[in-house]
Order: sequence, then structure tokens, then C-alpha cells
Amino acid sequence: MKAIHVGLCGVGTVGGGTAAVLKRNAEEIARRAGRPIVIKIAASRDLERARTVCGPDIEVVADVMTVADHPDVDIVVELIGGTTIAKDLVLRAIENGKHVVTANKKLIAEYGNEIFARAQEKGVMVSFEAAVAGGIPVIKALREGLTANRIEWIAGIINGTSNFILTEMRDKGMSFAAALADAQRLGYAEADPTFDIEGHDAAHKLTIMSAIAFGIPVQFEKAYLEGISKLDALDIKYASELGYRIKLLGVTRRRENGIELRVAPTLIPHKRLIANVDGVMNAVLVKGDAVGATLYYGPGAGAEPTASAVIADLVDVTRLATADPENRVPHLAFQPSAIANLPI
Ligand code: NDP
Ligand code: HSE
Repeated sequence: MKAIHVGLCGVGTVGGGTAAVLKRNAEEIARRAGRPIVIKIAASRDLERARTVCGPDIEVVADVMTVADHPDVDIVVELIGGTTIAKDLVLRAIENGKHVVTANKKLIAEYGNEIFARAQEKGVMVSFEAAVAGGIPVIKALREGLTANRIEWIAGIINGTSNFILTEMRDKGMSFAAALADAQRLGYAEADPTFDIEGHDAAHKLTIMSAIAFGIPVQFEKAYLEGISKLDALDIKYASELGYRIKLLGVTRRRENGIELRVAPTLIPHKRLIANVDGVMNAVLVKGDAVGATLYYGPGAGAEPTASAVIADLVDVTRLATADPENRVPHLAFQPSAIANLPI
């Protein structure tokens, strides 16, 4: 069957992982998608790196807009990050009738409403599984597995870098700065790690999950956020002595007058499952009225775990793009409801 053509924008940690896994597991992926998924063109300011990552036969360009405009590209994969070029790229791809897959939580949390509205008008899909909790298929769980439920609350460790830093400080007595440097070296941290350690990244992810779970627009600006940068070794030591672990926790839940969205360092009794989620691992607890509490656990960052989620979206989009457009699932499964306009 005719291959679906991907335009890969960004060949850093996640872009590199995506190219590697697409190549390594090409046969299985093609079987599951119903068609081969092939990188047609890659964009990077470092052309040599793009060739090394994607192989010598792939067209390589420096300008991402060439990918958005390429007549043979079916799906644009945005793995650049940020909300300047990435936003222009995504909107241009949509204008050109291309589907989009992105791992960019900042972009979705801050501009998702505009992006989804435009995509809806153009009849294309925008998928973002990798934007939340790295390799854990939590967007799929919320949209599909738990779709019968009225979601009551979500609580999670959803920033791998912060969790890695807190774990290294507790278990190895490492300094905050040294642990952060390791997280950067391992490819876990954002280009600007302030987003990780000050809680923005976790709040972006929480905002996205909250929108899906409660059927509300993405409203990042309403989130309360507090990071881990003010914690020191003594805080962690005293917490341990009292039988607690400190975790950067994101919580969203229904309240009487709206939806709460908050990210903050939290003391958790050490016997709780979630207190034992360490290193770069993430965990998301979701409470539904029918199913009760469910827990999703796995690597929250890193090249191949994140690629796993990017490719899951590619397979989904390929299947849906091949099917009747009338039967496509709306982007955030918007269900305008009584709570939609209440304050957060
Ligand atoms: P990297 O910094 O490793 O990669 C980003 C790539 O984009 C770099 O190779 C950079 O190349 C390239 N790039 C930047 N600007 C341009 C441009 N104008 N034109 C072409 N290429 C450009 O980031 P990550 O791979 O870590 O992250 C990518 C996205 O994935 C981000 O949105 C991030 O939040 C998200 N994400 C990351 C995870 C992780 O574990 N790292 C996990 C989940 C999501 P250069 O600057 O060399 O030109
Ligand atoms: N910087 C992010 C984290 C990457 O550490 O969780 C995954 O989204």
C-alpha cells in the first residue's frame, strides 16, 4: 500500500528518537498503521545532523516552512519546541491541509484553542500524545479508555526532570545544580530548564489533561504553579525523617465553583505508590466515577520513550487519515457542559 509521508521538523532528542524507532520497527509499525510510515523530508538548522539522524536518502532542508509547504508531505511532525517558529509551522501545515503531530505541551497548553479550531475548520488532525507524561499513553487513556466516566480528579508526577532532581538529591545527596545538569545531559530537560524546575512544564501538561477530562478549553493562564527551585537538601532530609517524600504534584479536580488546576511540591506519605515513583518516571492517577482510581506509570521523558508516543500518534493519524473524514474523533473530545465557563 502507498506509504504515508512524514515531514520531520527538529532532529534533537525526540526527533532523533522518532527517526530511530520508525526505522528500527518499520515493519511492525506499517502492519499496525495499515501503510508504511516514511520520513520524506527533515528540517534542521544543522543539515549534517539531519542526514546523520534520518539517513542519506532523505531530503534535508534548513527552513521548516519548506516542510509545511511540501506537496508530498501528509503529516508534519513538530519537534522543535517553543511557541514562535513551532506555532507558525503548525498553523501553516494546517492551512496547507496537512495533519500535525507534536510533542510540544507549551504550544498546545497556550495556543491549543486556536490551533484546534483552525484544524477543525480545515478537517485535519492535530495529535499530541507525547506532550503529556512522555511515553505513558495517558491522552489515549483519558480520551478512549476512560471515556465512559465522569472524571472527578487527576493527580500526577508529570515532570521527569523535577522528579529526577528530587530523587538524585534524596538518594545520592547530589546538589540541585548537579542533578539538573545530569537531567540536561540525559535529554530530559526543556531547552530552558526554568520551565521544568519552576512548574510551568507540569502546568502545561496538567492544563491539557484537564481540558480533555473536563471538556473545557485549554486555560493555562488560570493554573496555580510553584516549582522545586526553592527546595534544598534539608527539606528533603526532614521530609524523609518524618516519613514523607517530596514530589512535584499536579492536581486538577472539579470544585463547587469550577475546575482547580495546581502544581506544587507536595509531601506524600512514603508508603503511597506515587511516593515511590522515582527518577525520570512519571505517574498519573485518574479517578473516574465508574472505574474508580486508575494509575498510569512509565518514563516521562527521554528520546525513545517520547518517540514511542509520537509514533503512536503517527499510527493513529495514518489510520484515521485513511478512513472516512466524517468519522474522525474531535481533537480534545470537547463536550461543552455546565462547567465549561466556570472559573478555574
Ligand atoms: P531538542 O532541543 O533536543 O531538539 C529540538 C530540535 O529543534 C533541535 O535539533 C534544534 O536544532 C531544532 N530546531 C530549533 N529551531 C529550529 C528551526 N528554526 N528550524 C529547524 N530546527 C530547529 O529538544 P527535544 O527534542 O528535547 O524537544 C522537542 C520537543 O519535544 C519540545 O517541544 C519538548 O518540550 C518536547 N518534549 C521533549 C521531551 C524530552 O524528553 N526531551 C519529552 C516530551 C516532549 P538546532 O537548534 O540545533 O538547530
Ligand atoms: N522536560 C520534560 C520533563 C520533558 O522533564 O518532563 C518531557 O515532557
